[in-house]
Amino acid sequence: MPPVTPRYPGYPLRVLLPAVMALVTVACSGPEVAPGERIYLTGEGHDGRVAYRQGPRWLSRGQFGCAVCHGADGAGRFVQAGQAAGAAPAITARALAARGYDAAALSRAIRDGVAADGRELSYYMPRWQLDAAEMQALLAHLDGL
Ligand code: HEC
Repeated sequence: MPPVTPRYPGYPLRVLLPAVMALVTVACSGPEVAPGERIYLTGEGHDGRVAYRQGPRWLSRGQFGCAVCHGADGAGRFVQAGQAAGAAPAITARALAARGYDAAALSRAIRDGVAADGRELSYYMPRWQLDAAEMQALLAHLDGL
């Protein structure tokens, strides 16, 4: 009788199981960040960095979103831009509602730099080129601030 080559019925499992476990671990690691929150905190849209016009030059040197100027909580803060400095206003849901913003006015301010009262926002507020889905996600996040 020729020697029987030992077979490993468990072979595929022994290889697959750790791979599956690794995938599950990666998929479950870290808290899930909602798309709107990610844009707000890091400027990262669903297709990489959200493009924008204007804004201070340092903005392009990091993973910055709205939070770097308006604060993670939307309470606003002081912004330095070269020689100029100014205040980025509060953009919490309550602050924006008090200034007459609705969803349409808000997207106009974010995309085109036009305030709710028609005033053109300063150069230091970037004009963000968000697509419709990104804008919707961002507005939902602002609504919770
Ligand atoms: C580089 C700093 C900076 C970043 C980043 C920034 N903003 Fe601003 N933003 C400003 C400044 C400064 C103003 C005030 C401009 C003015 O009053 O002329 C402003 C104004 C606004 C206003 C108008 C508020 C009002 O009272 O009329 C809204 C809305 C706003 N920002 C939303 C956002 C959102 C949403 C993002 C992220 C997608 C963002 N901003 C990112 C600096 C910034």
